[in-house]
Amino acid sequence: MKKITIVGAGRVGESTAQILAKEELCRELVLLDIQEGVPQGMALDIQESASLLRFDTKVSGHSNPAAMADSELVIVTAGFPRKPGMSRSDVLDANLKIIDSVVDNIVRYAPESMVMMVTNPVDVLTWYVWSKTGWERRRVFGQSGALDTARMASFIAMETGYSIKDISPLVLGGHGDAMVPLVRFSDIAGIPLEHFLDPQAIARIVQRTRQGGGEILSLKQHSSAYDSPAAAIAAMVDAISHHRNRILPCVSILDGEYGQHDIAMGIPAVLNENGLVKIIELDLNDKERREFEASADMVRADIERLPHRETA
Ligand code: 2OP
Repeated sequence: MKKITIVGAGRVGESTAQILAKEELCRELVLLDIQEGVPQGMALDIQESASLLRFDTKVSGHSNPAAMADSELVIVTAGFPRKPGMSRSDVLDANLKIIDSVVDNIVRYAPESMVMMVTNPVDVLTWYVWSKTGWERRRVFGQSGALDTARMASFIAMETGYSIKDISPLVLGGHGDAMVPLVRFSDIAGIPLEHFLDPQAIARIVQRTRQGGGEILSLKQHSSAYDSPAAAIAAMVDAISHHRNRILPCVSILDGEYGQHDIAMGIPAVLNENGLVKIIELDLNDKERREFEASADMVRADIERLPHRETA
């Protein structure tokens, strides 16, 4: 890609910028934040690592939203992170105001872009951005499943001792405690998880995956996770930038898939240079469907709370 803008020079924004620059996933990378000086300093710091890390990506920091002009992809990380004890939904009210003005700027300065939402609650805010822009759903999607799946893979590796390279789990649903780790669709080298792990171990992995973000937050106290979220964002950017047709769990607008309408949820999707081009619909069993629906109910309850719903 020629140009990517990251909105929000917080920790997730910074870690993401480091990876995208180092991996040369775009020629020009813009870090944008309203706090004058912070994105400029952060970008300069990353740019000064270029000769050591051997990359040609041009990194710059700005506080004027006009700097996002002509971006092909805008990654939105701006917003308040969770504090210990807060759910992702608790941050909705505070972050809605921020996202409102971010969307206005995207529509004004980067009207041809794709938008990847990261700010929490990511499902609700992805829906909100799609609803507010009225853009095709392939252009507005969110990151959560790539991270949740990566966490589940780590926990499976810890329990089994096998290489993470052979572990392929799948997590669907909203990015909250009701997310749906799909054991039936998770494997190690193509062999179902149940072959290696007893039900108790699988239950531990499922539970730990659901609380993955909270576990980091309660350990660090003053910060949510940022390195693994940044790596998850980078995996999605890589799929888009290299037109890979990767199948990754993404937050997508659902229009009848999985029995859901007018909502954004984590499902497996195909990502390439045109964005989220295809939703993969799985044949869920009764228990999985019930869990998915419970997760959808939680996301929908937050969507219903939004001040102005303009269904596209
Ligand atoms: C996480 O899961 C904060 O949602 C973020 O770590």
